[in-house]
Amino acid sequence: MDQNTITLRPWRETDLENLLKYANNANIATNLTNGFPHPYPREKGEEMIAKVTKADQPNILAITINDEFIGSIGLHFQQDIFFRNAELGYWVAEPFWGRGIATSAIKQITAYGFEHWPHLDRVFARPFGSNIGSQRALEKAGFLLEARLKGTIYKNDRVEDELIYAARRG
Ligand SMILES: CC(C)(COP(=O)(O)OP(=O)(O)OC[C@H]1O[C@@H](n2cnc3c(N)ncnc32)[C@H](O)[C@@H]1OP(=O)(O)O)[C@@H](O)C(=O)NCCC(=O)NCCS
Repeated sequence: MDQNTITLRPWRETDLENLLKYANNANIATNLTNGFPHPYPREKGEEMIAKVTKADQPNILAITINDEFIGSIGLHFQQDIFFRNAELGYWVAEPFWGRGIATSAIKQITAYGFEHWPHLDRVFARPFGSNIGSQRALEKAGFLLEARLKGTIYKNDRVEDELIYAARRG
């Protein structure tokens, strides 16, 4: 098997140790909502695994190389009048950054979303203004910048712009 094949697959209970090893990283948490804590406690990891292994058609998948868990990517379906939209959330373990992994994972989960949820029309992501790596990955995956909201984010004592990138069905 190609050593660099990036595959998305359902999470497994055995992903817990890699999750705890890689998620406990301030460089990851600093670019995410406060729902992803730093330090990242074992209980949070156990809670996450219990949640993501439940669904028959999972909306949150493990990013893997050679079946090894190295990150997570998920589609978060919106409610009410926004039900045709899903927000993308993702992170890649720091030792694997800069190898095109997020770009590939974003492409794969977007195709997966449009294939399995026929009502889904738009997949969007909201990187912080300073998160150039995430913006590049989205652009390389074919997402378009739809908006830049000034200073809407407050994270770790800093104010950030909120960028909105999206991909549409077909
Ligand atoms: C953002 C993140 C997912 C990117 O993962 P990745 O696998 O390294 O991304 P890719 O390799 O597919 O693409 C990143 C691109 O941005 C570029 N890049 C990364 N950091 C950069 C920076 N500070 N300035 C300019 N370009 C940068 C890379 O060089 C690469 O482009 P290239 O392939 O043309 O060289 C990863 O850094 C991460 O998990 N960060 C913390 C969590 C996070 O930010 N999640 C996303 C929230 S919206």
